[in-house]
Amino acid sequence: YIAIVDLGSQYTHLIQKRLTYINVNSILTSEFNQDVYNAKAVIVSGSPMSALRDDIKEIQENIGNLINMGKPILGICFGHQLLSLMFGGKIIDNPEYGRTRIFINKRNELLYNIDSPAEVWMSHGDCVVEAGDAEINAISEKGCISAIKVPNMNVYGVQFHPEVTHTRNGELIFKNFAQSIGFDIKEISANERVSNYYAYELNNIKSLYKGGRVVSAVSGGIDSTVATYIVMKAIGSNNVIPVLIDHGLFRINEVEESKINLEKAGINPIYIDASEEFLNKLEGITSCEERRKIIGELFAKKLNEVITKENASYLIQGTIYPDVIESGKTKYSQKIKSHHNVGGIPKWFNIDIIEPLRGLYKDEIRELAKIIGIPKEILNRHPFPGPGLAVRIIGKFTNEKLNLLKKADKIVNDVLKAKGIYNNLWQSVVTISESWVGVKGDEREEGYIINVRLVNSDDGMTADYYLPPNNVIDEISNRITNEVKKITAVSFITSTKPPTTIEPC
Ligand code: XMP
Repeated sequence: YIAIVDLGSQYTHLIQKRLTYINVNSILTSEFNQDVYNAKAVIVSGSPMSALRDDIKEIQENIGNLINMGKPILGICFGHQLLSLMFGGKIIDNPEYGRTRIFINKRNELLYNIDSPAEVWMSHGDCVVEAGDAEINAISEKGCISAIKVPNMNVYGVQFHPEVTHTRNGELIFKNFAQSIGFDIKEISANERVSNYYAYELNNIKSLYKGGRVVSAVSGGIDSTVATYIVMKAIGSNNVIPVLIDHGLFRINEVEESKINLEKAGINPIYIDASEEFLNKLEGITSCEERRKIIGELFAKKLNEVITKENASYLIQGTIYPDVIESGKTKYSQKIKSHHNVGGIPKWFNIDIIEPLRGLYKDEIRELAKIIGIPKEILNRHPFPGPGLAVRIIGKFTNEKLNLLKKADKIVNDVLKAKGIYNNLWQSVVTISESWVGVKGDEREEGYIINVRLVNSDDGMTADYYLPPNNVIDEISNRITNEVKKITAVSFITSTKPPTTIEPC
């Protein structure tokens, strides 16, 4: 197996995913423990740390030991910088984020069949400018050393992230690495992996379930629908009680559409309208993290009321694999946002949790939804954050802004659907911010800005922006400024992730 040492990068779990899909076993750990020393090879991940500013001595000592033992090593991003330094290189502060071209000047085993220039994605603040005794294999358009190999050893570094889907042919780097050090590669399709998982999980739930009622919070989104569906399949739908809690932060018509779509999937939720309570609590709150907390706690309270009333024994949670890793890895990672679904379970909850999606990645849930025949209306829906439009209001949360946002959001999505664009996007994120002076019919109006962020992505981890043709931009902008009172400007966000996250906060 390969040991992945997680030094806290946002993407570390994707390294494991790439290896899984070429049938290479791996373990993920944030310690240089015995499992790492016993591995056939080691991958050292990226990190929020800086090799210029943070204490890296212990990490380098461990990497040094592994190299002395003759272990093949691949350093990614921060890992690449550590290796460069260890062999006498030099790094300076010079960031690269998002889409970058690299030029291969000397091909090593890892770069076999990789184009030059190659389009890769970067996410780092420091740049390797000298590689010391290591061989320089590729240089970025900005002049940073982007790939190295230590001569006569299987020790490699890449500054870019081959694990993210936006790096073209990134999976080939892992194949090349694994193959060059003697692993047998077999490509596994998403369908194959997910079908196996589904069969396993049905049995797993059957064997864990000891009777009683199971409550499930559904939103009409793909994750909660698939999670609920699997449990219904495993233990029978009579024992499962789906609940749709309306926090008032859904989009126009979304609740009605969700009810219809869920019914098509055989799920008929109890509907609880708690919107007034949620919106009153949120009014005037500026911090997005605080809003998430308020929503999470109130949601849990509402859910608990149902659990008590129904005397339920279990709760279904839509935890996915990256969340599982996230909760176990705190050593080096940094919190960007509190990414729990709204039902993030507080400590006072005393109920057994069923997590049918805990072994899957976001895009695999879509694959599973196809396999089990979830209605296409749910399948084609864009991911929508649990705290809903609350995370799309920039600055102070007010009910006025929320209502304007709902109207603008509907216009954007109606136009995108009419033009056949909507289904090709990962998400269309419409947000509201302050403020822009407008002139409407010779009158001054101080109004709000609607920001439209259209993105393409495979898993939400990296994203590229999408800009529609001019006539579509015109239609969206004109309709919003004409039809929605108090909106005086419309902007389209044209930055990739990284550095810009998909949701504004
Ligand atoms: P970011 O904004 O981190 O988003 O680039 C990545 C993906 O996660 C979704 N997202 C959330 N989902 N609760 C959720 O359930 C949240 O608080 C949350 N914040 C972001 C986002 O829509 C995107 O698909």
